[in-house]
Parts: sequence; structure tokens; C-alpha cells
Amino acid sequence: MKSVFLVGFMGSGKTSIAKALQTKLSWKLQDTDDMIVQEYKQSIPEIFRERGEQVFRDYESSVLKKTNLEQTIVATGGGIIEREENRKFLKQQEMVIYLDTSWEEINQRLSDDETRPIWSNENTDKKELLKARISKYKEVADFIVKTDGKSVDEIANEIISFI
Ligand code: S3P
Repeated sequence: MKSVFLVGFMGSGKTSIAKALQTKLSWKLQDTDDMIVQEYKQSIPEIFRERGEQVFRDYESSVLKKTNLEQTIVATGGGIIEREENRKFLKQQEMVIYLDTSWEEINQRLSDDETRPIWSNENTDKKELLKARISKYKEVADFIVKTDGKSVDEIANEIISFI
């Protein structure tokens, strides 16, 4: 088995679930946001502020191509599915899991979050953004895991049952 990719909206738990899977499976872990910060030596908010979203998306597409190693969990950024080339890449992968979290749950979890430029942008309707992205997550997903009301451990075990 090569990589297991986790996709889903901001706040769907990709990072925590990826870490739980890493521990349970003793696999490697890649996180596209972390890869961007390491490679371009700027924080995500700085990249958005100083270079803009399109440059961030260029960086994101570039690091995505460096994933898919043996036995690796890949946590992706919530907007990874925005570019067609990334959806194409993800559709070619062995296993992509969509973490399907309701708007209510996301909104509750991220209410005070100031670390995500898109979430903090008052001009963006986040509920509409989620609605617009759902079909793109589903387009690339091999499995959909509903996460509302479930613990990280339960979700990780559910994913392991697919592998
Ligand atoms: C984004 C999600 C973030 C990060 C960036 C943009 C998005 O990742 O990549 O702030 O467009 O939804 P998380 O989904 O890990 O928060």
C-alpha cells in the first residue's frame, strides 16, 4: 500500500486523524501545509498576506507532487481540491478518504480560529465555500467517512478497516 490521502474542509480533523493513523500503523506522515512552510520558509498566513492565494495554490500543487511515498499518511490542506490538476493527481492515487464533517460541527470547532487565512477572511462566505467544495471532495474520494459525533480514535479505526 502506498499513501492514504485525507481530504476534507478546514476543521474536519485531517491533521489529528493523520497523527492517530501514523501512530497506529507506524507509517510515515506528510502534511501539505507543513511541506509548504518547510520548503518556502514562510508561514501559511504570511504567504497569503504577502503573496496571495494563487501563489499559495501554486506551492500547494507543487508539494502535492512530492507525496505518495510507501506507507505514508498524507494530510492535505482543505483547498487542495480547488485545482483540477490536484483532483486529477488525487484520482490516480490508491486511497483517498474524504472526512465528511457538517457545517455545524466545523463552525463550532473553528469559531475562535485565527490561524487559517480563509477562515479569518470576513469577505468569504465559509458555509457557501464548504457547499461548493463538497462535490470536489467526493469526486476524488474512494471512501467517505462521516465524522460528526465520532472520536479521532473511532475515525482512525474506521479508516484502518479500509486499508
Ligand atoms: C485552506 C486550508 C488550510 C490551509 C490554508 C487554506 C483552505 O488547511 O491549507 O489555510 O483553502 O481550505 P487545513 O484544511 O488543514 O486547515
